Amino acid sequence: MNESTPDRYGVVGFPVHHSRSPLIHRLFAQQTAQHLTYELIEAEPGEFEVAVRGFGAAGGRGLNVTVPHKEAAFELAKDLGSEAREAGAVNTLTFKAGRLRGDNTDGIGFLRDLTQNLGRAVEGRRVLILGAGGAARGIIPPLLGGGVGRLVLANRTIERAEQVREQFRSLGAIDIARFDELAGEPAFDVVINATSAGLRGERPPFPGDIVGPDSFCYDLAYSRGDTPFVAWASEHGAGEAVQGWGMLVEQAAESFYIWRGVRPDTAPVIRELIDGRGGAR
Ligand code: ATR
Repeated sequence: MNESTPDRYGVVGFPVHHSRSPLIHRLFAQQTAQHLTYELIEAEPGEFEVAVRGFGAAGGRGLNVTVPHKEAAFELAKDLGSEAREAGAVNTLTFKAGRLRGDNTDGIGFLRDLTQNLGRAVEGRRVLILGAGGAARGIIPPLLGGGVGRLVLANRTIERAEQVREQFRSLGAIDIARFDELAGEPAFDVVINATSAGLRGERPPFPGDIVGPDSFCYDLAYSRGDTPFVAWASEHGAGEAVQGWGMLVEQAAESFYIWRGVRPDTAPVIRELIDGRGGAR
C-alpha cells in the first residue's frame, strides 16, 4: 500500500461533467501502479486562468484542457512542445519547478488510433477534413507530417478554412472548399468529421459523393449511440465509419506519458469504454 499523498491531476473545461478522462486516467494509473488522483474542474472562460493557477499553487502536477480553453492554455503556457506550437492550442499542461509547460497530444492520439489501432494508412491517400475549428486544427499537422497525397479542408464558412490554410502553409498544401463544392468529387480514401454538424438534430450538410465503399470515415466526436456523422456515412455507403473513442484514449495515454514517464496499454481501456456504451466502434 502506498501511504504517501497521491499526485494530483485533472481536466479543466466547460462543460466538463460528461468527460471520460477521469475514468481513463484511473484505468491507466491502476494498470501502471501510479499513485495519483484525477479530478474534474469546471471553469467558465473568464475563470480559466485562475482555475489553472490555483490548481498549480495547491500542488497539482498536471491538467488536461478541453473545450473551450485550448487556445487560452496555449497563451498561458511558458514552454511549449512542438505540436502545441504548430497547432496553436494546448490540451496538456504540466506544472514543473514553478513553470507551466504546454503540450498538444490530440494530433498524436488521432494518428496513433487511425494508423496503429485501426490499421489505416494516410501516406499518399486523399484525405478530406470536414470542419475548420479547433478540432480540425489539431489533426492537420500529423496528417501533413504523415505524407497525405492530397488534403482537402471543407467548411461551411469558407473564410475560416482560408485562415486555417494560411496557418499551416509552412507544413504543406491544403485545398479548401465549401461543402457543396465537394459534389462530383471522387470519393475520398479517408473522411474525418471535425464539425459539430448534426448534433442539434439537423441533417449533416455534406454531399453523399464524398464517401464510397472504399472510404474510411472517422468522427472526432463520440457518443453512446451512433454519432450523426457515423449514421450519415453508413447511410451513404461508406466502407467503414468509426467514432473517436480511440483518439480520446490515445491522446490521454500520451498526456499520461508526459506526466509519468510510463506508457499505458491503451487497447484494454478502449475496449472498456466501447463495451461501456454497449456497442461496436
Ligand atoms: P471545435 O473546437 O470542436 O472544432 P468550433 O471551433 O466551434 O469547435 O468548430 C466547429 C466546427 O463545426 C466549425 O467548422 C463549424 O463551421 P463554421 O466554421 O462554419 O461555424 C462547424 N459546424 C458547426 N455547426 C455546423 C452545422 N450545423 N453545419 C455545418 N458545420 C457546422
